[in-house]
Amino acid sequence: MAHFPTEFLDEVLARTDIVELIARHVQLKKSGNNFMGLCPFHHEKSPSFSVSADKQLFYCFGCGKGGGAFQFLTEHDGYSFPEAVEYLAEKAGLEVPQSLAPDSGDQEKRKRALALLEQGATLFARALMSQEGKAGLDYFHRRKLSQDIISKYRLGYALPGYGFLEKVLGRDARMQAQLEAVGLMFKGDRGYVDRFRARVMFPITDRRGQVVGFGGRILDQGEPKYLNSPETAYFHKSDLLYGFSEHRDEIRSRKLLVVVEGYMDVLAMAAHGLPVGLAPLGTAIGERQVREILRLHAEPVFCFDGDRAGKQASWRALERMLPVLSSDYGPRFLYLPEGEDPDSILQREGADAFVQRLEIEAKPVLDTWIQGLKNLAGSGVEGRARMAKKADAMLAVMQDDYLRQVWRQEAEKVTTLKLKAPEASPRKPHPISRVASLATPNQEKFLAALLQKPERIRPLLLDQNVFFLDDDGLNLVYTRVLELAATNTGVVQALLLEFPQEERIPLWASQSDISDEEYEKLELLMRERHLHRLCKKPGTLEEKTYRQEQWKKISEKLKKVGH
Ligand code: GTP
Ligand code: MN
Repeated sequence: MAHFPTEFLDEVLARTDIVELIARHVQLKKSGNNFMGLCPFHHEKSPSFSVSADKQLFYCFGCGKGGGAFQFLTEHDGYSFPEAVEYLAEKAGLEVPQSLAPDSGDQEKRKRALALLEQGATLFARALMSQEGKAGLDYFHRRKLSQDIISKYRLGYALPGYGFLEKVLGRDARMQAQLEAVGLMFKGDRGYVDRFRARVMFPITDRRGQVVGFGGRILDQGEPKYLNSPETAYFHKSDLLYGFSEHRDEIRSRKLLVVVEGYMDVLAMAAHGLPVGLAPLGTAIGERQVREILRLHAEPVFCFDGDRAGKQASWRALERMLPVLSSDYGPRFLYLPEGEDPDSILQREGADAFVQRLEIEAKPVLDTWIQGLKNLAGSGVEGRARMAKKADAMLAVMQDDYLRQVWRQEAEKVTTLKLKAPEASPRKPHPISRVASLATPNQEKFLAALLQKPERIRPLLLDQNVFFLDDDGLNLVYTRVLELAATNTGVVQALLLEFPQEERIPLWASQSDISDEEYEKLELLMRERHLHRLCKKPGTLEEKTYRQEQWKKISEKLKKVGH
């Protein structure tokens, strides 16, 4: 982790309002001392995501995600930690001292690269609006994209001929190397040349909306029809979805997500008032993309072209989905008529008809699977055998035992064959399961009580009441709590930074407050357990007697308070 001084991080946090930060993505409603909303980290129908203005924390009681402002930016928007610090510092009007700038090498390089991509997007967009870009603008207009859409999605045009970017950015070797590193130029026989020429340009953004690459479409005929940025350090096709940062919030609030095949489909949907489309970047959908899609919305519709390629693409998507599927999700598949895509349907039939197709014609994933198996197998006896074999292979990948049983039954019905008995798959940990704790509930509660009211910590230090918990991980946290209390900074926020993996910290801090009365009991209990343990340790007779007496005293006290 970067070494920002604690005081600086404290200052940044002090000037940040986590409620405002989160409210940009999640609709929050005041509820008691907290704000509640639908969790942006997992799909849910009733709100279990809480944000506390006092504590400057968020916590989801459904999936266990939680943290402070830095964690929201890293977990939700995909910032790195230093980026999150810089972002919030800037927002708060604080300057990150240059000497503190973390691991300056890589970080700086990345920043420059992203700035260059951003500049590229601006240049392409400007070119589209210039006289020379008329062909590009005409093209978008022919495809019925309004100026609004063009601006919102920062559509652009790469001029024909060479040297377009260099003319503005400079022709030195360093710039050329940088442009190559971000995928805007490549080195051919005659030196560096522009990758994109005479193409309309679609900037592709990452989760936080930064341009990381481009897709470019040729205007008329020609090969390739679409050209994408190559894989670079900043552009990973299998991790990205076109439209993600632009549509994430709309998808959540409208509870509608449509996965389509192409950029133009995403844009046509947006142009028709449906900014809820996502598309892979010209590659088949992979498992990571499927996970991202299902996390965003549990019932996405995969809408594919009605041609052979579309069928193939949907089958691939279905295969990638198998390990992720569970009864929590209800993805559906819609095949459009042969030769149509969402764009063409929308142009001809309009938005309502398209939405109606999504509602009425989209088939559950199980139906799609069975139909796919039938198509794959062909007819005859051998066909049925092939189908059963394929079904078995696919079922083996599924992780959800119950869902697999249902699917198996359906496959047996259509093949009229007995499929292999499912093997009990090794239980994978639930993706959002919490860490198993060795500490007793009371020990955890004690720690929670300390975090909720850090003023409880000081007396412990004075009395040298350093208890130990039955969980090494928690002992680490506990020890730090005591140390931090001495330096008087925000204990919880500091812990979050130090133990980003320890999901229980935001949980404890967000739990309903533990009363002083109950805390007293907990402290006594901790003391009693501690002495009890000491009694079993070797020592002189004197020491042992002393400990015994102490322990008896505390036990009496405990009994009195009703434990
Ligand atoms: P339009 O012809 O502009 O309507 O495009 P479309 O969105 O209907 O595209 P199509 O169905 O032909 O392809 C869907 C997606 O596949 C596109 O958005 C691209 O991402 C990708 N794609 C299509 N053609 C090519 C190609 O020649 N090369 C690459 N790399 N990707 C392509
Ligand atoms: Mn099309």
